[in-house]
Amino acid sequence: MTTIEAVKLRRILDSRGNATVEADLWTATGYGRAAAPSGASTGTHEAKVRPVEEAIRDAEERLIPDLVGRDAADQAGFDRAIRDNDGTPDLSKVGANVAVALSLANARAAADAYGQELFRYLGGCFAAETPFPLGNVIGGGAHALNATDIQEFLVVPTGAPSAADGVFANAAVHRKVRDLLVSMGKGSGKGDEGAWAPAIDDLSAFEVVHQAVTAVSDEVGFSIGMGIDVAASELWNDGAYRYRDASRSPEDQVAYIAELMDRYNLIYVEDPLQEEDFEGFADLTSLVGDRCLVCGDDLFVTNPERITSGIELGSSNCVLIKPNQIGTLTDTWEAIELSHTHGMDTVMSHRSGETTDTTIAHLATAFGCIFLKTGAVGGERIAKLNELIRIEEQL
Ligand code: PGA
Ligand code: ZN
Repeated sequence: MTTIEAVKLRRILDSRGNATVEADLWTATGYGRAAAPSGASTGTHEAKVRPVEEAIRDAEERLIPDLVGRDAADQAGFDRAIRDNDGTPDLSKVGANVAVALSLANARAAADAYGQELFRYLGGCFAAETPFPLGNVIGGGAHALNATDIQEFLVVPTGAPSAADGVFANAAVHRKVRDLLVSMGKGSGKGDEGAWAPAIDDLSAFEVVHQAVTAVSDEVGFSIGMGIDVAASELWNDGAYRYRDASRSPEDQVAYIAELMDRYNLIYVEDPLQEEDFEGFADLTSLVGDRCLVCGDDLFVTNPERITSGIELGSSNCVLIKPNQIGTLTDTWEAIELSHTHGMDTVMSHRSGETTDTTIAHLATAFGCIFLKTGAVGGERIAKLNELIRIEEQL
């Protein structure tokens, strides 16, 4: 029933118009499909993506014959087969894009063979709650030209009675932000993830989002928190964080972020320091970790070894999880388990280049992530948000 009978890889479009990998996988009674996303502000230590066409050609020749005939219900074995076939620590031979599409499609096919939704198959009876949606409403950095230095200004509806209410609250904040920007004469287009990309400085962006959050929170009657993804590795150059109007040493950066946190009541800060600064992360976490989630994205790249270093040094209290950063579902699960065992929260995340694949909504629910970070609007973002609404209905 769960023996893999056929696997098909193809080249499809992502939301930036680039090629990415989609996998279809069949067992006698199950079928699964998944696609690889891709980043723009990628971490140095991420698993390596290969050019789509050659990666597919090689996988058809050298990898897929190893996978056909395996048991799809043995996810760890399936993922180990990919790793053994690859033989490198960063999946550079198979390509992380091929690996993650295959790994997730396999889980979907196994779930389908058992007649279960993916979140139920993976989470069992303990999958009882959906995460809160975490969405960006203004952004710049590597995701938009001539916009803010800080990559993402985020909102999370922490008081929402349901995930569905939260999804609509985030969309309302996104709309309110546009109205405020237009009234300032700063109306703009959107960046890669659907957030507004106005030509304003970071402090103005904080003010706009704060105003929007306050207005929408009053309307809907529940609290909405603010957060940021600094994506600080993108600002880090020659020993300092280079903002358009300032340069900050690592110590200044910690003080600056802590000040922003207090001024705007930030409940979530991602990558406040560059990807090698485990100690700087620890300094910030000891300052503000009692009232704010300090989250490592490029710092950890969903890699259990790097998360272990972070645990030893007290670098953060939260870990960003992107399955394609590490390459397989088993590794993703291990990263989450390790984080939760050590008292850290996890946030399941999209990439800036996405498809309409909805798998991360299932993973976030199955594995008990606190947030699902997947934008606020846009076809490839709402695919996941709407799936979260459907999942919630079944809990
Ligand atoms: P990326 O950015 O998908 O372009 O890497 C998202 C993030 O930094 O969280
Ligand atoms: Zn990030």
